[in-house]
Amino acid sequence: MISKITVKAPSSTANLGPGFDVFGLAIDAFNDIVTLTKTKNGISIITDDNIPTNPENNTAGLVVKNMKKKFKIKGGIEIKIKKGIPAGFGMGSSAGSAAAATVAFDKLFGLELDGNSLVEFAGFGEKASAGSVHYDNVAASVLGGFVIVRTNPLDVIRIEPPTKLRMCIAVPKIDIPKKKTKVSRGAIPKKIKLTDSVLNLSNASAIVAGFMRKDSDLIGNSIKDVIVEPARQHMIPGFVRVKQNALKAGALGVTISGAGPSVIAFTKSSSDLKKINSAMSRGFASANIECQTIICKPSKGAADKRR
Ligand code: HSE
Repeated sequence: MISKITVKAPSSTANLGPGFDVFGLAIDAFNDIVTLTKTKNGISIITDDNIPTNPENNTAGLVVKNMKKKFKIKGGIEIKIKKGIPAGFGMGSSAGSAAAATVAFDKLFGLELDGNSLVEFAGFGEKASAGSVHYDNVAASVLGGFVIVRTNPLDVIRIEPPTKLRMCIAVPKIDIPKKKTKVSRGAIPKKIKLTDSVLNLSNASAIVAGFMRKDSDLIGNSIKDVIVEPARQHMIPGFVRVKQNALKAGALGVTISGAGPSVIAFTKSSSDLKKINSAMSRGFASANIECQTIICKPSKGAADKRR
């Protein structure tokens, strides 16, 4: 039996426009690294990052606590966390630590859980930060690639993305409200028009077809959401310009990454990716906001043995 293990989990983008709470994509922009070490007793958290070190308020801590109880594990565990995914920007930060902790726990105690179970345990950590469980980010971060999340019962379908798919992301340097995900979920209407639902469903279906056919153009030009994006975009100063600029610079589709405020443009490797990023920066600059820009591609997941 091993006594220590380190697992790396990737950042992720949720929703991809019309797939609210259903679609997730692991992206190689950032990583969280979690090391679990068996100790005599208790659960302790060690980190140099500005995150809660009380296991009750930490996504990785919650995962370990819950799994330890569930599998009746005796003794203690030290959790060392190195955050690479910026917290609160719609890049799956809480999911990254939860995913890495879940996969590390599974390996440390030789549980050999299947993909759906790993995602379910990782989702437990997400509950703490978002106020409700949604598995889109954790599923992507655990399994890698593109994921479709079905619930009741939880069943995640993973599809390998096209190798030429690229994303240009702009992360605005703005203050993030406390409980951001909860706040931005509150902005979404409870009732929607049937015609809007039909539009979103058609584009969501086309995105799935795009991943199945490895067709980056079909994925990109189906990133269209008439329900959640219009309700949230006011929370991102400059969003309309950022989107317009990116599309003009050659992006195929542009939307909010997860609950925001990062904006994500979908395109392919043959596009002028730097031009798209600068166009997005200029969009944020028009609202007097600086941003960090990133060019990235789909990533493997924390549990993907091919890493
Ligand atoms: N699907 C979730 C949302 C992702 O958009 O609220 C948040 O991380």
